[in-house]
Amino acid sequence: MSPEIVLSPRIPTHEFEALIVGAGGAGLFAALELARAGVNAAVLTKLYPTRSHTGAAQGGICAALGNQEEDHWEWHMFDTVKGGDYLTDQDGAEILAREAIDRVIELEHMGLPFNRTPDGKIDQRRFGGHTRNFGEGPVRRSCFAADRTGHMILQTLYQQCIKAGVRFFDEYHVVDLVVDEGRVGGVVAYRIADGEIHLFRSAAVMLATGGTGRMFRITSNAHTLTGDGVALAYRHGVPLEDMEFYQFHPTGIVGLGILLSEAARGEGGYLRNKDGQRFMERYAPTLMELAPRDMVSRAIYLEIRDGRGIDGKDYVHLDLTHLGKEIIDAKLPDITDFARVYQGIEPITQPVPIQPTAHYAMGGVPTDVEARVILDERNTVMPGLYAAGEVACVSVHGANRLGTNSLIDLLVFGKRAGRSMAADIKGQGLPAMRGDAAESVRAELEALRGRSDGEGAATIREELATVMMDNVGVFRTEELLTGAVAKVKELKDRYTRVRVQDKGKVFNTDLLEARELGYLLDCAEAMAAAALDRKESRGAHSREDYPERDDAEWLKHSLVYRRDGEPEIRYKPVTITTFQPKPRVY
Ligand code: FUM
Repeated sequence: MSPEIVLSPRIPTHEFEALIVGAGGAGLFAALELARAGVNAAVLTKLYPTRSHTGAAQGGICAALGNQEEDHWEWHMFDTVKGGDYLTDQDGAEILAREAIDRVIELEHMGLPFNRTPDGKIDQRRFGGHTRNFGEGPVRRSCFAADRTGHMILQTLYQQCIKAGVRFFDEYHVVDLVVDEGRVGGVVAYRIADGEIHLFRSAAVMLATGGTGRMFRITSNAHTLTGDGVALAYRHGVPLEDMEFYQFHPTGIVGLGILLSEAARGEGGYLRNKDGQRFMERYAPTLMELAPRDMVSRAIYLEIRDGRGIDGKDYVHLDLTHLGKEIIDAKLPDITDFARVYQGIEPITQPVPIQPTAHYAMGGVPTDVEARVILDERNTVMPGLYAAGEVACVSVHGANRLGTNSLIDLLVFGKRAGRSMAADIKGQGLPAMRGDAAESVRAELEALRGRSDGEGAATIREELATVMMDNVGVFRTEELLTGAVAKVKELKDRYTRVRVQDKGKVFNTDLLEARELGYLLDCAEAMAAAALDRKESRGAHSREDYPERDDAEWLKHSLVYRRDGEPEIRYKPVTITTFQPKPRVY
């Protein structure tokens, strides 16, 4: 590859063999792997690394260690496939379940402070949908550090990256990919401190930017989860896979959406309706509160709809009062503090009001199992682009992710991304980069900053959050989804005239939030279109007008392409290796 470079002298330009966009678990593990391989790599993040959303993951990270009771990776693989309502690609699920064990041990050796059993092994607890012997009953598979497991993973990996000499560009907001003749050769970043545009030239770029949850009104996602990587890939011709599958976590703080970990139910917490009844016995008699999240969230909504919400309102109770102070303090300290601080509830003695909260995108940027981004139904690789973590769709979560499979996904496929990048760039120089590589996004940002009339971003953002919550939430119909498609189109049109109030350059978060809204609109457009097209119910996609799963017609992944500014949907087959689809009974 030619090392030739002709760049604008006005734009600061950096060169690295590999770049990672995002400093959560997947990005950090990839960076570490690259550093270990001697690759000159950099991580760009719009935050500080230790504020990445991985830190909000609470309850655990699963691996079939068998420390508390018999367990096997084959059982974990089966649960992942069944939990995903058989839309899971089984080659990926096998890799996830097998490699989970080594990745958790690797974290332990890096010094992650896991809770321990009395004989000193990593402690493990139950989580929804994780079972022994192919569905017989719950199994203890989730390794944890109290209810701050993600936080500990983030701290541990960041420390390792610093030790390995990884270069970090903190508060550099990536606003575009540099793509030339179909090859990704770098990124354009906006330095938040002074509004200066920087170019980064590189042979390999990894997206590790996380999810899209801020498109919903009630969400567990941080304000930064605005689908940046998903939208940037979509704008550059990458189709988005399985966008219709979005997970609602059953237990968010009412009205706020802040997560109260499933670990609360893993430790034995109950869900009760207004009559004090453990209503899950009517929906999932074997696993009860530890059924997969899609089923539990639907059950909560059905209870509320049938008038069995607490005081007839739109929430039910998470009851931990029988667990006792000792277990609560040792294993659930953070979430019980959240209930005290945000709700004024004492969980040791009082039930906690909860409602489902938008939590996790099963869909995203399609990749192969080596984390290489793919461009079509034939699995054509996009040279130079990689993705792992929530931004990506491998697809190991299928139509519904099991709790604690996200953290292990970050590690397994983050590491694989680092390995693939190191292998692919070996012996290559940096790709050529045009002098005007940053020009179109620079002009866009300047136009946005300079616009003096138009609508503020806040109203568009609010209307988007409302329509996505009400029309593309836990239950969906043709009518609701048609309404959502039309509304998102209207919002996208209004967005072309959006205006920001802050015209300055220093820490202009007004400008960047307006840009993030554009990403959310793109992701919402793809999600609503794919949800309208899929005429069946599967996993987290629950169509009241098509209540059955329909394997004959719909056992396939959706791919939403952007064609002339409009979504176009195609499909590709699911990889089935071991487990034939069966009805999902728990
Ligand atoms: O409930 C939780 O602790 C969340 C875990 C997850 O989403 O995997």
